Amino acid sequence: KTRIIIDCDTGIDDALAILYALRAPNVIVEGITTVFGNIDVEQAADNTLRLLALAQPGYEIPVALGASQALVRESTGFATHVHGENGIGDVQLPAATQRPVSENASEFIIRTAKENPDEIVLVTLGRLTNLSLALEMEPTLKDTLKKVVVMGGTIFRPGNSTPVAEANIWGDPEAADHVFTSGLPITMVGLDVTLKTRITAEHLELLNRYGREENKAIIAFMEQSLRHYFNFYRETNYLQNSAPLHDPLALMVALQPDLVTYRQMKVRVEHKGEHTAGMVVADLRPQPKVGHFIEVAVDVDADRALGIFLSVFM
Ligand code: BDR
Ligand code: CA
Repeated sequence: KTRIIIDCDTGIDDALAILYALRAPNVIVEGITTVFGNIDVEQAADNTLRLLALAQPGYEIPVALGASQALVRESTGFATHVHGENGIGDVQLPAATQRPVSENASEFIIRTAKENPDEIVLVTLGRLTNLSLALEMEPTLKDTLKKVVVMGGTIFRPGNSTPVAEANIWGDPEAADHVFTSGLPITMVGLDVTLKTRITAEHLELLNRYGREENKAIIAFMEQSLRHYFNFYRETNYLQNSAPLHDPLALMVALQPDLVTYRQMKVRVEHKGEHTAGMVVADLRPQPKVGHFIEVAVDVDADRALGIFLSVFM
């Protein structure tokens, strides 16, 4: 089993990734840390705690709050137009049954990695602020974490926040550049692959028909929150009753790396440009010189990924 920490800004697709992790057989979730992004950091934690109560009443997983703003730049605003006022498509979930831990996100990540050297995979589904702060506090973190799987960035496709920047990188480009050049082993799961991995209304029908009894409440939540997500993707991307599984795909890749194919690239994250802040700049020249090598997911077996995603609820 892969031991993971999920660092997220619990919006709709983060929620689906968390629910997947709570049902997948091949993973141990050591903790969930939250960061501002889709919504503020407190709301992200509250959403997370409510999802835990929904999916596994009585069984606690530590939840730690992290950064409420980017390292240096002004807030770019929350993504309520994408994820709803409460971040989870305005679905009202039952109240939380546990409280956040007293450690903050960076402390939690540092301690857990130190106690379990080379064991923990950190899966980041939001801005990289918590990880950047943790590396600042404890530089040896880059040796104690096994690896980091990042949902974020894009190389060959346009951005979704700006023409060239994906939201998780755009929201804190300084943090992203720090993390990408830190020497940590990084796998980037960006829009190149997540936009191809879409859940559809037909998939939801399958879940409704074949979902296990104990997952009915989860499936009802997925349906309601995805309705909101489908609308957003219809209005902005002309998708009909479907939406990309950005965060779930990154989480699945952390557990099953062969779902995607990779290319090693030297990259930097642009954080000075007026029109290019948040762009992942890859040096694709035959003799790359700029940046640090990371592993970038460039293609995905989307049907297989969807099949595996659905199967854990059925
Ligand atoms: C990423 O941005 C957020 O809105 C989603 O939760 C996902 O992590 C996609 O660009
Ligand atoms: Ca997210």
